[in-house]
Amino acid sequence: MSVQSQVVIIGGEGDLAFRKLYPALYSLDCEGMLADATRVFAFGRGRFEEQDFIDEVRRWVDASEYTDAIDETVWQRFSARMIRFVGDATAAESYTRLREQVGEGDRVIYLSTPPSIFSPICQALDDAGFVTPATRIVVEKPLGESRASFEEIDSHIKSVFDEQQIYRIDHYLGKETAQNLLALRFANVFFEPLWNRHYIDHVQITAAESIGVGGRWSFYDEAGALRDMVQNHLLQLLCLVSMEPPAKNRPDFVRDEKLKVLRCLKPVQAHDVGDVTVRGQYAQGRVEDESVPGYAQEQDAKSTRSNTETFVAIKAEIENTRWQGVPFYLRTGKRLAQRRLEIIIQFKPVVHKFFDSVGGNLSANQLVIRLQPNEGVELEIVNKVPGLTEQTRLQGVDLDLSFAEVFDAHRAPSAYERLLLDVMRADQTLFMRSDELCAAWDWVDGILQGWQTNGQPVANYASGSWGPSESVDLLARDRRRWFDHQ
Ligand code: BG6
Repeated sequence: MSVQSQVVIIGGEGDLAFRKLYPALYSLDCEGMLADATRVFAFGRGRFEEQDFIDEVRRWVDASEYTDAIDETVWQRFSARMIRFVGDATAAESYTRLREQVGEGDRVIYLSTPPSIFSPICQALDDAGFVTPATRIVVEKPLGESRASFEEIDSHIKSVFDEQQIYRIDHYLGKETAQNLLALRFANVFFEPLWNRHYIDHVQITAAESIGVGGRWSFYDEAGALRDMVQNHLLQLLCLVSMEPPAKNRPDFVRDEKLKVLRCLKPVQAHDVGDVTVRGQYAQGRVEDESVPGYAQEQDAKSTRSNTETFVAIKAEIENTRWQGVPFYLRTGKRLAQRRLEIIIQFKPVVHKFFDSVGGNLSANQLVIRLQPNEGVELEIVNKVPGLTEQTRLQGVDLDLSFAEVFDAHRAPSAYERLLLDVMRADQTLFMRSDELCAAWDWVDGILQGWQTNGQPVANYASGSWGPSESVDLLARDRRRWFDHQ
């Protein structure tokens, strides 16, 4: 069913808007999800002339990996929805003018701007009387650099909007496979009974990127991998994997369960931060057959002596009945061997060694949830190798379910399509609540403080590798290893 909202994108001439938001809105239009009356107001400073702006939108829609060749009928309809609005986003006068054009009814305001101006924007919206009960606001990371700074940013938003009107985006929650995790766990009978410390040995969550940080070095150097990827994306995935089944598929039921997980994370402190975390920084190397510079040699690097981590590995523990003693190994990094986002659930071996004289290693079952690329689910099952050998030979064999093959008639929407549609439908399930972010920051702040107290250095790793050797040691100390099957 199509939804009718007036969408205002503040920062409408910015990178995120062109790369992600307009292509996502165009795709929603292709799917018939936008009502005839829906308009998209691209609020900017007037960097582009009208026609240049539309051409630029078209260029990005065309380039998006989620759109096929442009459908001219849809494009005519979509481009007619796009209204360029020039103004100062921090001035109430702009919103008084905008109000005339937007009219009454549902409004979605997307802040695609740095958080440093969220406060004056909210103030101006309020002063202009732009915020009605049917107005929702969408905000993007980075939402703070610590709990204190998050709370400060959040307080400005909350002074104008109620929690029910605030949509804090974590685009990982919009990925199809992240949502499929809920289907996998709660719509199948065979996983949930095993989903606990009795049957699961450990969990690995890897978000590996082959790209570097070139182009946004200064921003990244202030943030680092822990704030950029772990505080939000990896912790949200960890929550989906480990939360208790929510009573119903309703926003606050799901968010309550995620919050409980975050509150159960074992705090990391100065005395153990060196044992359970690894920091790395990429040096020069080769990625996908191309020679690439190290972090400190990137063209826009401002320092050759930065101590910012571009890689982090963490052994996280959830202190509750379900997960006591089951480590969750989290790992993310830039310029790694491959782009790969996956979750591996490693089950324990069978208890009774029926096959006491098997040839080869008797592996335990493994469930691999591939979020990107080649989204799918793989289940490794132990089988007998056919043959007449005296000794039974066993081997792990993959039941491999590639979504592209199984659901070939269905287009997988981008994360932003899903999330924009949910905002228009006023569904907060896939958005983070304020208390969730506070709990996530509490845990991350502990690690940051530990690093600072101990002056924990970054270990160099060659671009194109799987990170520093200390990351291998982190698991080796527990007699485990990362599953880096190529
Ligand atoms: C962003 C981070 O939130 O996520 C980037 O700021 C990172 O550093 C990106 O590259 C990864 O997103 P995706 O969807 O490509 O995995």
